[in-house]
Amino acid sequence: MTATVETTSPAAEVGAIPSFTVTLKIMRFDPENHGPQAYWDEFEVDVHGTDRVLDALHKIKWEQDGSLTFRRSCAHGICGSDAMRINGRNRLACKTLLKDVNPAKPIIVEPIKGLPVIKDLVVDMEPFFASYREIMPFLITKDGKHPTAERHQNPEQRERFDDTTKCILCAACTSSCPVFWTDGQYFGPAAIVNAHRFIFDSRDQAAADRLEILNDKEGVWRCRTTFNCSEACPRGIEVTKAIQEVKRAMITRAF
Ligand code: SF4
Ligand code: FES
Repeated sequence: MTATVETTSPAAEVGAIPSFTVTLKIMRFDPENHGPQAYWDEFEVDVHGTDRVLDALHKIKWEQDGSLTFRRSCAHGICGSDAMRINGRNRLACKTLLKDVNPAKPIIVEPIKGLPVIKDLVVDMEPFFASYREIMPFLITKDGKHPTAERHQNPEQRERFDDTTKCILCAACTSSCPVFWTDGQYFGPAAIVNAHRFIFDSRDQAAADRLEILNDKEGVWRCRTTFNCSEACPRGIEVTKAIQEVKRAMITRAF
């Protein structure tokens, strides 16, 4: 007897990934080819239920408009290069599922705020990295000793700055901060988070220098504790708490 093979079993249909159509309304800016004003462009894309905003942007670029410009590298929430405003909130496009941002309505995609737009969703990150460089984001020792083994730390000492080691420099926090929008000179949350990472590291010996740098009129005291930064951080870092801890260390000189 010959067995019959069913090509579409009910089980296969249950496991099928539903696809649907979404509209992306994207803020474009292309001074070379489209004049100095930003403008809105809309695209309809067929997507799968597991697709992310980054997948939809790729589909648009590959199938509809090759001139659409955005940054991305890892596509897995690690490199921090695809922060953008999605439905008015800073997010990583590669970590935002389309089904979670109300795909029944057009999904609004804009560049992050407070940094100069170069083209479409690509902003000039240099002011952001200039602040980052200023806080000296590297381990500094001053005692002149060159240990022959690792610089040991106990779990409690490591825990002190564990949260702020998770930063991927995506700028979602800094570009969601109203102080940074109005005063581009403010160091911004990300620079303070990265200063925190070294200020509270028991192996580092330049905490006082970093606190002095952040005691500037554009430093930590500009923070108005709006919590936008904590809400925006795709790594779940308690950004506002880190800023408060740096403020406290500045007053108490305890770190
Ligand atoms: S603290 Fe969070 S939001 Fe800010 S740059 Fe780092 S990872 Fe991005
Ligand atoms: S592409 Fe690397 S974090 Fe999104």
